[in-house]
Amino acid sequence: GIMRDISGIAVMEQELSRKLGIRQAIIVSGNSDESPWVKQELGRATAMCMKSRLKGKNIIAVTGGSTMAAVAEMLTPDLAERDWLFVPARGGIGEDVKNQANTICAKMADHTDSRHRVLYVPDQVSREMYESIIKEPNIKEVITQIKSASMVLHGIGDAITMAERRKTSEEDFVKIKHAQAVGESFGYYFNEGGEVVHKVQTIGLQLDDLSHIEHIIAVAGGSSKAKAIAAYMKRAPSSTILVTDEGAAKQLLKG
Ligand code: BG6
Repeated sequence: GIMRDISGIAVMEQELSRKLGIRQAIIVSGNSDESPWVKQELGRATAMCMKSRLKGKNIIAVTGGSTMAAVAEMLTPDLAERDWLFVPARGGIGEDVKNQANTICAKMADHTDSRHRVLYVPDQVSREMYESIIKEPNIKEVITQIKSASMVLHGIGDAITMAERRKTSEEDFVKIKHAQAVGESFGYYFNEGGEVVHKVQTIGLQLDDLSHIEHIIAVAGGSSKAKAIAAYMKRAPSSTILVTDEGAAKQLLKG
């Protein structure tokens, strides 16, 4: 019956958060690899989690990806009573427009009647160009906002899938493969032990900045992402909350 399923999930959530060494795991039913609507459920669960954790004025840093795009779709105007500002967590990391953090922040702001900022940094720039871009007052201001965020919402991807999806150079692709990267999050690639084996150079949030941020919500589902999630969680701050699905959770609890 339904009650048994619910308590079954609650037990899984406990086991999973303990196993990964994180604050909380929230599991939705299904497997997003098989059923696309499960991503919407991940979105709904994330929206509820945001609502319960954030009161008043907040800056929320967001990464890109199709999962974050689903979260954006599930945000609703009743959240507008809160004073939120969405900022992209990091500058250009080679994603298509629809998967970019800028696009997703705009959609999140739109759905919640709140504000957003954009961070336009080209993916591949010379050192010289980069140095002058980061001196631009508008960019500087957004970076300050990112670093003072009270919440980070981010996706986790399979390393090779992400390297293929992005405009990764042949050289970096070989490096990522050779280092046996399995997981990726905000442009950092991790091996099974949770070590960073490659990083996309860009401005904005750096991995070490996470420890200063009060609320961290990672959203990733699908059994195919289990290895990636396990790898990243070895490195993630213990305050992290994972929103995932049964497909990934079952695989993670097996491993
Ligand atoms: C990227 C994020 O845009 O999306 C990454 O920067 C994340 O943090 C990835 O790993 C996940 O993408 P998806 O489409 O699987 O949600």
